[in-house]
Amino acid sequence: MDTATEPQSIGNFLRQALPDLFTPVSTSQKTCPKHGIEYTEEVYTRFTRGCPECAKEAEAERQQRQAEEREEQHRQWQQQQIEKRIGDSRIPKRFCDKTISGYRADNEQQRYIVERFKVYATEFQTGHSGRCLALLGNAGTGKTHLACAVARHVIRNCNGFARFTSVAEINRIVRESKSYDSEISESEVIAAFGGYDLLIIDEVGVQSGTEAESRALFDVFNERYQNMKPTILISNLSPEGFKAAVGDRIADRVKEDGGEVLIFDWESSRG
Ligand SMILES: Nc1ncnc2c1ncn2[C@@H]1O[C@H](COP(=O)(O)OP(=O)(O)O)[C@@H](O)[C@H]1O
Ligand SMILES: [Mg+2]
Ligand SMILES: [Zn+2]
Repeated sequence: MDTATEPQSIGNFLRQALPDLFTPVSTSQKTCPKHGIEYTEEVYTRFTRGCPECAKEAEAERQQRQAEEREEQHRQWQQQQIEKRIGDSRIPKRFCDKTISGYRADNEQQRYIVERFKVYATEFQTGHSGRCLALLGNAGTGKTHLACAVARHVIRNCNGFARFTSVAEINRIVRESKSYDSEISESEVIAAFGGYDLLIIDEVGVQSGTEAESRALFDVFNERYQNMKPTILISNLSPEGFKAAVGDRIADRVKEDGGEVLIFDWESSRG
């Protein structure tokens, strides 16, 4: 801005530049029918200055409208953030809209599991202890469904970050981070997996991996365990098979501090 003109207000500048605009064409005494006060109405070429109380009200309304617009913009922005976090979570599209209440509980085991899930989900609202879940049992019984429902809840209702992954994906990402041209180091990968408010690791025990691969799973799980961040592990194996697949250290830590192993051993609802 030109410093020579800086002290001059826009109003004064306009009055000097466009004197016609700011000289009343006529003035008259009036009484506001709404406020019952007398005032001098000033008619200019482009506008009329009327009742000062009416002007105050109009200004207040304008500010109210502006505040509402800002609020609406903020709401839209928040919605976009939620949709972005849903996308970043990698929850498979098929499971994006699954909810705990959308899970049918037809038998005693299902009713028990739904109750446990409701408790587990609620804990994200109050500050999660970091306790883990292992969901074990037959394919098609809704393990991925319920885990994704918790992730959805964490993102949509708790303003949190969740990530859905599989053992195979963890192995691939860790393996790629070790490549000489990788832009991200292995410890950064581990730290990134460690940062989510909830991590779901699906397909545990599907492939019997190499030592490096079971190391990668342990590193990710342990990073979260150390920081008291909750992890849900999902496997179609029996409890014994699960323990053999992940090793004693993970199997033991899953059960620590209120962690639960939930068994889904009825027939598939895929039919
Ligand atoms: N009790 C249930 N109520 C509603 N849908 C269910 C139930 N059990 C399974 N499903 C549905 O069946 C399909 C397979 O479930 P999924 O979560 O993939 O099973 P799993 O991970 O145990 O193999 C999903 O579409 C899921 O929503
Ligand atoms: Mg599954
Ligand atoms: Zn008025």
